[in-house]
Amino acid sequence: MPGKGRCPVATEPLLVVSDLRVSYGRAQVLDGVRLAVGKGEFVTVVGANGAGKTTLLRAIMGLVPARGRVQVHGQDILPWPPHRRAELRIGYVPEGRRVFADLTVFENLQAGAYRLPGGRTALQARLDFVYGLFPRLAERRHQLAASLSGGEQQMLAVGRALMIDPVLLIIDEISMGLAPVVVDQLFRVFGDMHRQGVTILLVDQNAQKALAAADRGYVMETGRITMEGPAGELRNNPAVVEAYLQSL
Ligand SMILES: Nc1ncnc2c1ncn2[C@@H]1O[C@H](COP(=O)(O)OP(=O)(O)OP(=O)(O)O)[C@@H](O)[C@H]1O
Ligand SMILES: [Mg+2]
Repeated sequence: MPGKGRCPVATEPLLVVSDLRVSYGRAQVLDGVRLAVGKGEFVTVVGANGAGKTTLLRAIMGLVPARGRVQVHGQDILPWPPHRRAELRIGYVPEGRRVFADLTVFENLQAGAYRLPGGRTALQARLDFVYGLFPRLAERRHQLAASLSGGEQQMLAVGRALMIDPVLLIIDEISMGLAPVVVDQLFRVFGDMHRQGVTILLVDQNAQKALAAADRGYVMETGRITMEGPAGELRNNPAVVEAYLQSL
């Protein structure tokens, strides 16, 4: 049945998560999660509120204590301190627009590039790239992040993750509370990044949009992966439609 079986990664795996377990106190929030993202793939994880999606991304980023394995290019990065992910050019857009409120747009972007090799020339090239994607950030480059609208702050969070020139971009709940036009703009940027060869792992409450943009998807329920398959198949799977797509 489509979406029920395992769906092998079509390309060389870039990210492989196996038997990932996270507990908060006595509550086991991730219970042996496994997933793989191939080089150049766009993968999404769909699941109800509280399923553990954010915890999964935070564990991959080294931001919560976890057991199991998280391999990138075959290296187990789970024991690494969080900042070393930047060396592997993993960009992360956390849930909830985590920008540095009391820094300007420019300073936020500069902070995103602090591990970017290549000095001022490379920094300027990335700034030009991000300002090209989001002209509104360019117009507001000397404005404090706190004074930006919600949509602009989300653009800044994405722009900051792009400063590292990521090979893998991990995105958590980008569309939360944003106007549809801004959500569309951000998804267009992700589509462009994907076409340029960036590998993407995205979680979003808007499962319809996430599955429309992705190549492949996983369904997560209470800390486990319960289904996976090509995104188009998951979109048409009656169980997925009923649980995650019906209200849209
Ligand atoms: N720091 C924490 N301490 C204790 N429990 C936590 C903590 N963070 C998350 N949890 C719990 O872990 C579970 C998974 O949370 P998580 O944020 O990963 O879910 P999610 O799938 O991202 O949900 P949402 O769709 O609402 O963003 C929830 O039951 C949540 O209450
Ligand atoms: Mg979440």
